[in-house]
Amino acid sequence: MKYTELKISSDNFPEETAPVTSPAAPAPGAVRPSSSDAASRAAAYVPGVSVSPEPERGDDGDAPGASSAAVPSEQSASCSRYPKKIAIITGASSGLGQEFVRQIDADPEESFDEIWVIARRRERLEALQEGVRVPIRAIPLDLTLPDSIDQISSLLAEENPFAGLLINAAGFGKIGSYQDISRDDIDRMIDLNCRAAVDMTQAVLPFMGSGSRILEICSTAGFQPFQYLNVYAATKAFLYRYSRALRMEVMPRGISVTAVCPYWITDTEFIGTARKTQDSTYIRHFPFSTKRGSVVSHALYDSRAGFAVSTPGVVCTLHRFFSKICPDTVMMGIWDLIRRI
Ligand SMILES: NC(=O)c1ccc[n+]([C@@H]2O[C@H](COP(=O)([O-])OP(=O)(O)OC[C@H]3O[C@@H](n4cnc5c(N)ncnc54)[C@H](OP(=O)(O)O)[C@@H]3O)[C@@H](O)[C@H]2O)c1
Repeated sequence: MKYTELKISSDNFPEETAPVTSPAAPAPGAVRPSSSDAASRAAAYVPGVSVSPEPERGDDGDAPGASSAAVPSEQSASCSRYPKKIAIITGASSGLGQEFVRQIDADPEESFDEIWVIARRRERLEALQEGVRVPIRAIPLDLTLPDSIDQISSLLAEENPFAGLLINAAGFGKIGSYQDISRDDIDRMIDLNCRAAVDMTQAVLPFMGSGSRILEICSTAGFQPFQYLNVYAATKAFLYRYSRALRMEVMPRGISVTAVCPYWITDTEFIGTARKTQDSTYIRHFPFSTKRGSVVSHALYDSRAGFAVSTPGVVCTLHRFFSKICPDTVMMGIWDLIRRI
């Protein structure tokens, strides 16, 4: 059976790879598998392929005590040195994340040994294997729990893959005034859309190298302040800014970062979730909305082309342009008209 599932339990994270407390499972963003472990893992995961002991991979700073000869810079990391090449997609149980899995599997320009998919609904993740060729590894996790990132870090440290692609698509929004959205929803929105996306990126970056790509799914909502979507829009502005700056930092390593900024998409669960508040009537309709298929194909094309920002569609492209030349007050005035249509 092609499908492999990670059961999140202590069994899956043996003592030597247990999160944080174990020497072999460093804190998120500081994963540093040892050379002998990497070699033995390579032999274990790729039958018939012998991998000679390789030097430890460094991140921005060398490990204390590690000689520079033994720790090559991350710029030189290349896929061929690792046992397998993977793509990691969060929010893969529905909407854009699910569509990314399908299109990546079907696209001859995208080639991975495994796709790791993350979201809370296990059965949805498991069902992804049907109809796709690439082995799917289902990792059911709630990314608003900080422990979840530790579990991803431990798994990465244990398997030492080459991460060719990371797509942070997990996210949600809520429509309403400041008094219509519960504090719990507000906190989870900030946690998932901002903290979890950054933590996932930090955790995966040490496993990336030349040719790796990151897609942060932001939103056209990040281009300006939006009344009645105020927290959601602010989280996307955060992710957009983070993506743009990170791109410059990782460019010398040959890694690209693309901030994907779609307009409304109607064939995902996003709008239904966003409407579940005390009062979501502030936004009446979603005119000029797009479909997830075209958003995903556009985003993958832009990422392969190395673009910093992907605006998949005419509306979000125009929105980006006008948000650069018009003051926020003008943009919010226009939004006040559009949201009443
Ligand atoms: N649809 C739009 O109009 C639109 C427009 C612009 C940008 N976006 C952005 O696009 C991204 C994808 O949205 P979508 O339209 O595909 O919506 P969606 O169909 O609701 O997908 C959201 C995904 O996030 C996952 N998720 C939610 N909470 C999670 C948690 N705590 N831990 C882990 N995963 C969690 C969901 O899976 P589980 O429920 O199984 O956990 C689901 O797979 C979001 O970041 C959204 O902000 C959407």
